[in-house]
Amino acid sequence: MLGCTVNKGQTNTEISKQVKKLLSQMTLEEKIGQMTQIDVSVITRPEHGNTDNPIDLYKLENAVLTHHVGSILNAPSAPHSKAQTTGTWRKMMQDIQAVVTKSRLKIPVLYGIDAIHGATYTENAVLFPQAINMAATFNPDLSFKEGEITARELRASGLQWNFSPVLDVGRQPLWPRLWETYGEDVHLTSVLGSAFIKGQQGDDFSAPTKVLTCLKHYVGYSFPINGKDRTPAWIGERMLREYFLPPFEAGIKAGAATVMVNSAEVDGIPGHANYHYLTTILRDELGFKGFTVSDWADIKSLYKRDKLAASEKDAVKIAVMAGIDMSMVPLDFSFYDLLLELVKSGEVPVARIDEAVSRILTVKYQAGLFNATQTPIDVAGNFATPEAQAVNRQAARESIVLAKNSNNILPLKKEANILVTGPTANLLSVLNGGWTITWQGNDEQAYPKDKLTVLNAIQQKAMGRVTHVGGTAFNDVIDVAKAVQEAQNHDVIVLCLGENTYTETAGNIGSLNLPAAQTELAKAMIATGKPVILLTVGGRPRIITEIADQAAGVILGFLPGMEGGAAIADILYGDYNPDAKLPVSYPRDTNDIVLYDHKPSEAFELNAYNPLYPFGHGLSYTQFQSSGLKLEKNQIHNNENINVSVNVKNVGPLKGKETVLLYLNDVAASVTRPGKQLKAFKKVLLEPGQTELVSFTLSPHDLSFIGVDLNREVEPGDFKVMVGNETVLLTVTE
Ligand code: BGC
Repeated sequence: MLGCTVNKGQTNTEISKQVKKLLSQMTLEEKIGQMTQIDVSVITRPEHGNTDNPIDLYKLENAVLTHHVGSILNAPSAPHSKAQTTGTWRKMMQDIQAVVTKSRLKIPVLYGIDAIHGATYTENAVLFPQAINMAATFNPDLSFKEGEITARELRASGLQWNFSPVLDVGRQPLWPRLWETYGEDVHLTSVLGSAFIKGQQGDDFSAPTKVLTCLKHYVGYSFPINGKDRTPAWIGERMLREYFLPPFEAGIKAGAATVMVNSAEVDGIPGHANYHYLTTILRDELGFKGFTVSDWADIKSLYKRDKLAASEKDAVKIAVMAGIDMSMVPLDFSFYDLLLELVKSGEVPVARIDEAVSRILTVKYQAGLFNATQTPIDVAGNFATPEAQAVNRQAARESIVLAKNSNNILPLKKEANILVTGPTANLLSVLNGGWTITWQGNDEQAYPKDKLTVLNAIQQKAMGRVTHVGGTAFNDVIDVAKAVQEAQNHDVIVLCLGENTYTETAGNIGSLNLPAAQTELAKAMIATGKPVILLTVGGRPRIITEIADQAAGVILGFLPGMEGGAAIADILYGDYNPDAKLPVSYPRDTNDIVLYDHKPSEAFELNAYNPLYPFGHGLSYTQFQSSGLKLEKNQIHNNENINVSVNVKNVGPLKGKETVLLYLNDVAASVTRPGKQLKAFKKVLLEPGQTELVSFTLSPHDLSFIGVDLNREVEPGDFKVMVGNETVLLTVTE
């Protein structure tokens, strides 16, 4: 818990004393400045391009000395510029710090950045698989390491606050930020998110290799009814508490220092105006002690977009009183001016300002920002190290799902002659997605020259002929006739389909169907009669049903990151035995969105859970069997833990990893319960013939649900515990 965190040498009591003392010295203007966050464009020169010093000193002084801003965010010129070097970032932070030292109270500026799969905006950073892929690894150790490595690379860039992890649960596949989530399952999201936080932030926020995390986007952002970004969700209180709140609860337990707020609305109330969520639940129930930050211009949106406020000033009042501590304004000082007026007129009490500022200052003290002697860690040994690249390669390998492998078409023989085609075959951007070098991640020219596309990686490994038919950009027209003709001279076709990069509203679509040009290319390739390996990449499960039915092999790559091309080739050629599992249900049809933990009625009589590939699906080049599922006892009280064990055996010819998934079903309850819900998982590495006894402990929390009166409870009765093909019954009594 944040409340227990100790900054090396400073206890929480000491920090609290320092905060009180500092607060007592601050003017109202200085306090409101702390609550103000501006975009870096407010302090940079317009023509800065990629110079080594983009900061305009006059503008910086206006922000820090005149408006007392507490925080700055973003990369210079985002979304269009290239990433900055570690040197530029460090210089920028020094410049900001130098101006801070000229200020009356010398309160450090906290700089925030979206480093959601590595240090996005630092040149040559290690860029990991996106969250949807990290979820497919089912490997919390990798998530922990991603957190650790990203923190180091940010600190080597002089940065100390990451707007990550996204703990929204991805239950709407059209949503253009699905890939920023850990998929559709509550438990998986909670486990991987917590591991990331622990790796990134550790227990001591002030440690030189750690970075403050920010849980986002609190709460209910990921379930827009129409699939478009920043549009309404209609989530009842029970559903909120059952599906969307638990990962945030877990993130707070893991120690997250800050929380960013939902840009959209839930049940008619915009996230930034929701007192019930921001104060009653977040503070009073979940005990969150850090500070909340608005999302981009979202206080203004209460007036400009939502018409919930009658003016921008009204919007500021509503948001601050609902529980927003810091406003990502971000392009002007309007929040500062308006809040000052509101406090002076008595419309916002000083006590609320003191509360928000105390939270912000506490986090700054805990992060060691007031420690003037603190300098960023060395770049050498901390940034883009070979060890970190190796972890990234492993994460990518463990994140790519082998979905179909008819007649063991895969792994490919190295001597095979391969035709590689399709719009995603020869681009790095499509493997990385948004928040890569730029906001939309679509500046292919800015990508590192030493990383491999799928085509490059196949070329490196193949001993046979490799021919590429395709363009140089995602939207280039592919010469289908040429591809058909070339197919005749090759043994196998690797057909690379999927999505171009995007994030947020720019990624809105009206259907999960693939663009017509891709389906036409696919049909033509299948019609050649040559075996087709379908490889898809992209942030959402686009509909591939007909193609997949006729393809010999299917690999679902999602967004495997900078090492994704190499990792895909490792799997294609059997240099890595695939072990990823789907963290989402892969739909068969664009409108048939039923998730794995659906309610009984969704699979009753004529209804069915009939995805193309279910949640948890993923093949290996070896086979596993689980057996002997056993409960420590068959009956427990509703406040007891229960141990469960199962044997898992590698019955195939190769060494490989298997993730054992444990599901639970409450057989009859006063609120309808899912047919199954993931409650525990473990990934084990097994040699051929090796058996391992895997054990789990289920807690009362695992057996609980949100009851009729909206409280979490364990109802006595029977529960099915399921692993693989086995089910055992557990009876729970009062
Ligand atoms: C996104 C956030 C992000 C913020 C700052 C917003 O548009 O919704 O996820 O952290 O911008 O870049």
